[in-house]
Amino acid sequence: MEGLVVERNVGQDPPPFVTEDWIAAAFTPPSERSAAMRSVLSYSDAAIAELKEADTLVLASPMHNYALPAALKAWIDQIVRIHETFTFDLARGDFPLEPVLGGKRLVVLTSSGEFGFGPGELRGAMNHLHPHVDTVKHYLGVSHTWSASIEYQEFGDHRFEASKAEALAALPGIVDAVVASYS
Ligand SMILES: Cc1cc2nc3c(=O)[nH]c(=O)nc-3n(C[C@H](O)[C@H](O)[C@H](O)COP(=O)(O)O)c2cc1C
Repeated sequence: MEGLVVERNVGQDPPPFVTEDWIAAAFTPPSERSAAMRSVLSYSDAAIAELKEADTLVLASPMHNYALPAALKAWIDQIVRIHETFTFDLARGDFPLEPVLGGKRLVVLTSSGEFGFGPGELRGAMNHLHPHVDTVKHYLGVSHTWSASIEYQEFGDHRFEASKAEALAALPGIVDAVVASYS
């Protein structure tokens, strides 16, 4: 089966930030939006359309200041949008948000200069990259997740080489698991 790969490099082409105008536009019914409102939502419209088309998302990100880079957070903020990727209903009780999309596969590939960011490890509590993605992926419609991380980049020693080799060696298995998840 032929696959289409779409690449969106938010590091080179950063999404706009969510602003007061963006929020006002998102909360205005589509039929009542002004041209300016439609314009302020245009990046979001395109990014959401791209997400809807995607079966598998591959998210590659460095760790910046123990979290996700601002450009990646901006992309997520453009996509997690009321009536588009989630609905809100207080009748649902304490968890009023529900995702619109579902069944997507996510592969998270990360790199960091320091090390020990796994759960329970030396810097596990300092890791705000993976926990954020794990929480918000629900609203991207993700049902299955795989990840690989390269650590120690700033040390540049044998531990970096071992971490890199381990992550690269895991990739074929991840690809097989993603493919198998569709059967
Ligand atoms: C602005 C900036 C902030 C960074 N913050 C962290 C950090 O908080 N923790 C960490 O372990 N590494 C940090 N790093 C190191 C990067 O995560 C690491 O070099 C990574 O391999 C970069 O990947 P890239 O070459 O794909 O950008 C930071 C690097 C930069 C440039």
